[in-house]
Amino acid sequence: MKKVRVFAPASIANMGCGFDVIGLALDDVGDIIEITESEGDGLTIINKSGVPMPEDIEMNVITPVVRSFLQRIGKKAKIEVTICEKIYPGSGIGSSAASSAAAAYGMNELFGCPLSEEEVVLCAMEGERLASGGYHADNAAPAVMGGIVLIRGYEPLDIIKLPVPGNFYCAVVHPHLVVNTKEAREILPKEVPMHDAVSQWGNVGGLVAGLCTGNIGLIGRSMKDSIAEPYRKKFIPGFDELRGNLHDVGVLAMNISGSGPSVFALCDKNEVAEKAGGMMRRHFEGRDIGCEVYVVKVSNKGCKLMGISI
Ligand code: HSE
Repeated sequence: MKKVRVFAPASIANMGCGFDVIGLALDDVGDIIEITESEGDGLTIINKSGVPMPEDIEMNVITPVVRSFLQRIGKKAKIEVTICEKIYPGSGIGSSAASSAAAAYGMNELFGCPLSEEEVVLCAMEGERLASGGYHADNAAPAVMGGIVLIRGYEPLDIIKLPVPGNFYCAVVHPHLVVNTKEAREILPKEVPMHDAVSQWGNVGGLVAGLCTGNIGLIGRSMKDSIAEPYRKKFIPGFDELRGNLHDVGVLAMNISGSGPSVFALCDKNEVAEKAGGMMRRHFEGRDIGCEVYVVKVSNKGCKLMGISI
């Protein structure tokens, strides 16, 4: 029997303009799982995290990830996954992607790394497909690889890790509102007016250029979303007011984290991120909406092997 223990970080998808194509990994917040392999066939998932998860194994994002991995390497095995620590589902910081990434990365480590990093991301994306009905890598890729990741294309998958300026922090607030990712995708229009498309690809280019040259101002002013935010912000009470107040304390940008309802502010100073976090808490609590706030450094590290035993 062989066993691994792995960590996969939380992540923030889209970074404003990069709907489905840009995401970033966060430091130290994430999922920890253990995977054991023994002779035979079948999958068991044990949840010791204390976070509620679906009873039905077919509804757990780990299931399609493990199956897709075994299919890729052409092997059968008896796999037991224990979820030790888990980001709360619906928190808007890539809960399903962290489980999917941990399962894909952990399986790869368990079997002696037969898959490339890109193939590990492809396996993790199977979990995202189950969670949201969409086949996107903007949480899964940064969760596996760390840092800020651009998905240039999906057919075939073409992923580029972008440079992360040294001291980037995110204040993230998870207001206790229910916004299901599937629904948040379904409300988006199938067609985009040319004017909005032009503004969006200008901003994506600006964000990538800003990250590559370390131009903080350019990064901040490029993080604007003309495609999803106009439809999704109505689920977040006082969204525009919060953004105005956060800009006043010096954040570089504030956007919806992935499909929401979480919101994040990108900052180039920890003090500003702390201030932004406090402001976010007051914003929602002042509206009788409970929330959790995280102030976290943007991470260059993705999944980590924490232990292995044979
Ligand atoms: N890019 C995806 C979306 C991320 O915005 O729907 C989901 O977390």
